[in-house]
Amino acid sequence: MSNEWWRSAVIYQVYPRSFADASGDGIGDLAGVTERLPQLKDLGVDAVWLSPFYTSPQRDAGYDVADYTDVDPLFGTLDDFDAMQAEAKRLGLKVIVDLVPNHSSSEHEWFKAALAAEPGSPERARYIFRDGRGENGEVPPNNWLSVFGGPAWTQITDADGKPGQWYLHLFDGSQPDFDWNNPEVHELFRGVLRFWLDRGVDGFRVDVAHGMVKQEGLPDVHPLVQLGDDELTADLEEDQAEETAAEKETLVAEFAAESPYWGQEGVHEIFRDWHNVLAEYEGDRVLVAEAWVSPLEKLAKWVRPDEMSQAFNFGYLETPWNAAEVRAVIRDSLEAFSAVGAPSTWVLSNHDVIRHTTRFSADPLPPQGAGIGPKTPTKLDEQLGLKRGRAASMLMLALPGSAYVYQGEELGLPEVVDLPDEAREDPTFHRTGGELYGRDGCRVPVPWTSTGDSYGFSHSGRSWLPQPPEWATYARDAQEGTEGSTLELYKQALRLRAEHGLGTGSLTWLDGYPDAVVAFTNGDLTVIANIGTEPVGLPGGEIVLDSGKGTHGSLPADTTVWIRTA
Ligand code: GLC
Repeated sequence: MSNEWWRSAVIYQVYPRSFADASGDGIGDLAGVTERLPQLKDLGVDAVWLSPFYTSPQRDAGYDVADYTDVDPLFGTLDDFDAMQAEAKRLGLKVIVDLVPNHSSSEHEWFKAALAAEPGSPERARYIFRDGRGENGEVPPNNWLSVFGGPAWTQITDADGKPGQWYLHLFDGSQPDFDWNNPEVHELFRGVLRFWLDRGVDGFRVDVAHGMVKQEGLPDVHPLVQLGDDELTADLEEDQAEETAAEKETLVAEFAAESPYWGQEGVHEIFRDWHNVLAEYEGDRVLVAEAWVSPLEKLAKWVRPDEMSQAFNFGYLETPWNAAEVRAVIRDSLEAFSAVGAPSTWVLSNHDVIRHTTRFSADPLPPQGAGIGPKTPTKLDEQLGLKRGRAASMLMLALPGSAYVYQGEELGLPEVVDLPDEAREDPTFHRTGGELYGRDGCRVPVPWTSTGDSYGFSHSGRSWLPQPPEWATYARDAQEGTEGSTLELYKQALRLRAEHGLGTGSLTWLDGYPDAVVAFTNGDLTVIANIGTEPVGLPGGEIVLDSGKGTHGSLPADTTVWIRTA
């Protein structure tokens, strides 16, 4: 087994607009990141991954890139990037940047040229333009829907004011999909990789690494898969509903396996090419796939030895707080990834999902991407969620492989549910007319200090999303040095993880515990998580880490301990 750093690293996700704001405009920036890097070093992570800070009209918070090789003035300049990276190197932190190859912004120079050019021109051929269906081309070329709601096609207006062709966008209308059959697109991205590698980055997190290649002919998908649950039920007679719901479930599973745009075979050739580009550079550079594909055996194809290095384990992220399911996903992940020689990764939160402290008490949990807001009929219990969230994090950080930590989870931050509608920016919220809240609730700026406007997030006290008053108690300075705080728990966990080599270790399941318990050893530590409702007995040995507050002899519900038994 090779020993590249990323195989066992803890990688911290910085979402720049919400991390730290040095310029005072209320939006985080690279100079803010530079200022706060020592605190990440102190936390004990190995690397930072930064979500996009490139030139962008910010229609999808920077995942709509207009220039892949420059910094948006909102976040600073290329010099600020270099300064940030130099500081990271000085501290011994690796730097991973985001690559967004499925689509550009509609403000990208290529897309502007495509709009100005004729149908069938080389400019249009870099994107996916098609004539509409219907008598006058007024019907979209197929029935695909955007991930953010509404059709995945937008019709353009030609220079003469007449309706023109349609272009494909799996996400927002401001995010046209590239045509990866076009060699120019391949060349563009090789250049982007080299640009950042030349500047010294340690790797890339690849956005939508399951969507770049579309099935030949762009065939329709089954219309039932296109309907949301509410629409589906409204359209059906009562007695039909159950049967059709089951049918829909089957169709959704089939769609996941055979979607004409997710997980096409053709993506692998692209990763092999990028693998070779990275191999031209010295040192261990990493390619991380954001690929929402299942099952795990399919995802493992993304990380075969000549493709990407690792892939986010969203199966793990989506596993509910249930011991049998947690054991199964850990076992299946280790098996599927090791079968291709890749490390497993573990992740509980990121900028696209409801924060895990909130997820673990949500009843019922809204579907992925829908978000949660004041009108969501979901019951929440903040204290229970935090307790489970801490236990889940301690379980995750004890697993062999590489773990991802999303900014603010080390503070135990909950999702912000009651953001005012007018503050929300996620295109999901706007494209669905407010029906789905989307992802703003996990993107609220980080509280660094318990006092001051914006809790130390911004030098001016401004914040692009309002922070709740309760966040004073979650602030980093309120937790620093405070025994039992979530921050201190993470710090201790990361220190022990490194000391005991947990990331490079291997897991052995322990028998003899109740079903509601996840128990294993990794090296000289025994890890026990109680996911049930009753306390369970503990073996002898020294408790070196405790997600609860003072566990003795027996382990309370929703608590994880690490014990040195040797
Ligand atoms: C990825 C990003 C998400 C973004 C989408 C479109 O899923 O993580 O934030 O909206 O891609 O780029």
